[in-house]
Amino acid sequence: MVHYHRYHHPRKGATDSNRDEESQNLVLDCSTSAYYKRTRPKLLTFLFLITFLSCCYVFSPLFLRPSFSFSLVCNSPGTENDVNRDGVHVCSSVSAGTICCDRSGYRSDICLMKGDIRTHSVSSSVFLYSPRSTDNGSRNAEEVLQHEKIKPYTRKWETSVMDTIDELNLVSKKVNLGSVGGCDVQHDVPAVFFSNGGYTGNLYHEFNDGIIPLYITSQHFNKKVVFVILQYHDWWITKYGNILSRLSDFPVIDFRKDNRTHCFPEAIVGLRIHNELSVDSALMRGNKSIVDFRNLLDQAYWPRIKGLIHDEEREMQEKLREQVSSSPSSKTSQQQYIKQQVLENPMKKPKLVILSRSGSRAIINENLLVKMAKEIGFLVQVLKPGRTTELAKIYRILNESDVMIGVHGAAMTHFLFLRPGSVFIQVIPLGANWAAETYYGEPVKKFGLKYIGYEIHARESSLYGRYNKDDPILRDPSSINRKGWEYTKKIYLDNQNVTLDLRRFKKRLHRAYEYTLSKSKLSHQHQPM
Ligand SMILES: *[C@@H]1O[C@H](CO)[C@@H](O)[C@H](O)[C@H]1NC(C)=O
Ligand SMILES: *[C@@H]1O[C@H](CO)[C@@H](O)[C@H](O)[C@H]1NC(C)=O
Ligand SMILES: *[C@@H]1O[C@H](CO)[C@@H](O)[C@H](O)[C@H]1NC(C)=O
Ligand SMILES: *[C@@H]1O[C@H](CO)[C@@H](O)[C@H](O)[C@H]1NC(C)=O
Ligand SMILES: *[C@@H]1O[C@H](CO)[C@@H](O)[C@H](O)[C@H]1NC(C)=O
Repeated sequence: MVHYHRYHHPRKGATDSNRDEESQNLVLDCSTSAYYKRTRPKLLTFLFLITFLSCCYVFSPLFLRPSFSFSLVCNSPGTENDVNRDGVHVCSSVSAGTICCDRSGYRSDICLMKGDIRTHSVSSSVFLYSPRSTDNGSRNAEEVLQHEKIKPYTRKWETSVMDTIDELNLVSKKVNLGSVGGCDVQHDVPAVFFSNGGYTGNLYHEFNDGIIPLYITSQHFNKKVVFVILQYHDWWITKYGNILSRLSDFPVIDFRKDNRTHCFPEAIVGLRIHNELSVDSALMRGNKSIVDFRNLLDQAYWPRIKGLIHDEEREMQEKLREQVSSSPSSKTSQQQYIKQQVLENPMKKPKLVILSRSGSRAIINENLLVKMAKEIGFLVQVLKPGRTTELAKIYRILNESDVMIGVHGAAMTHFLFLRPGSVFIQVIPLGANWAAETYYGEPVKKFGLKYIGYEIHARESSLYGRYNKDDPILRDPSSINRKGWEYTKKIYLDNQNVTLDLRRFKKRLHRAYEYTLSKSKLSHQHQPM
């Protein structure tokens, strides 16, 4: 809790909201440069390490920690090695009465326990008891067999953020069962322990570090699992309740606040994670993929969306009834109007959604973009998700869409709400190529979307008016990227808007339009006549 307030306090003040957004982007892009490091040749590797060092430097005020070690923060998340060549996890079969910790993963540690497991919140511990033979002299003595410490969060390589994560003691002991307290709550299903601290509060991180790893770790339990949450937040439960209820049949436990002794037959402490916003089906039981995750989202949001549709229909009917009763003469024209609506609708236009940003990385000529998209034949909706916008409502809009357009930033995480086969056009401001490609370009392709990365030209950037045409800021953004993270952030991310060259952008829109039409024709062909 303490950590939460420290991190997210700025969110509370309205004037600080921009700052928070900056920090979110910072978080996002900082680790990107780490990732980038291993996907580029050696020279660049070195240069980007430097970039990343300065990135870490920018981090430090955020964590109010003047002296933390760079060297550890600035490693890149490599491929996971918590799975051997056969796709079998280390610790996949833990025997009763033991704790098995797999610390080989780059992004997370994970411990498995089996047997008589009991929570002890006051000492931040989870005990695993095995009975002592009764005839031993010192009756009250306990014998500690194993003591493991673990921070159940998925950004193991970033020490700065891991410093803020609560640590759990996992202790297996031989005890006289008669001399230890009993269970306040006995569960007969496994527990999964994880932390909701760290970067929770940023949509990208909430999915990448939290929800998707939770899916990876717990989906095979078929909801017969209890989630025990460290650094618990009520708002997170509200925001992700729909999804949580598809993963677990049981109420979550707030580990810090609920000091009762919860007993479990089995526990997983920590979450498994694969790669950026993805599920590697080769590492999943039942070959589950990111598409299965997306199907789970669909099931999760459907009850809420059904309710919304129902409410809207009722409201509409009431409105009509009022109008009709207030002017009886127009009754027939009302009915005609409804008939006409029904007749007009069957030929649906492809729907395009623009995820709109304000502040920095806004599309200045968004209105003209809307107009052009309509002229091409799209139904257009501009979406500005706020902090409290219900995810189900955003899901509903994107699930009905064929094309999503947005300027690179954390909100691009919403691509997970598009139906596979849809089109995602990411507008990439100057100096943001690597982040855009690593965080969204790659995962989006694995997810099964048609991806169009639109790298803007210098003339489309608000920086064009501010710098000389020969300035490296316009001519050679990667040279600026190499100078250090704070340059990238200040120049390109926090202070750049985009005015799309509509003639150039139009080609992408046409492509998206034609792609959508050809796809829907295909699907019609497959329908039995
Ligand atoms: C009795 O307890 C001691 C330590 O307390 C232990 O070393 C010994 O193995 C125990 N004996 C039995 C039979 O459990
Ligand atoms: C458990 O929590 C309750 C209320 O939060 C408190 O009254 C009680 O003293 C706590 N018990 C222990 C052992 O800390
Ligand atoms: C697993 O799923 C992938 C797609 O996600 C598919 O290509 C592959 O054939 C599947 N493998 C098995 C063994 O089912
Ligand atoms: C999403 O769209 C698909 C296809 O139109 C539909 O079958 C599904 O019910 C929609 N999901 C939700 C949650 O509305
Ligand atoms: C970008 O546009 C927004 C309006 O959408 C404006 O508030 C902001 O000052 C602009 N920033 C720059 C750097 O032009």
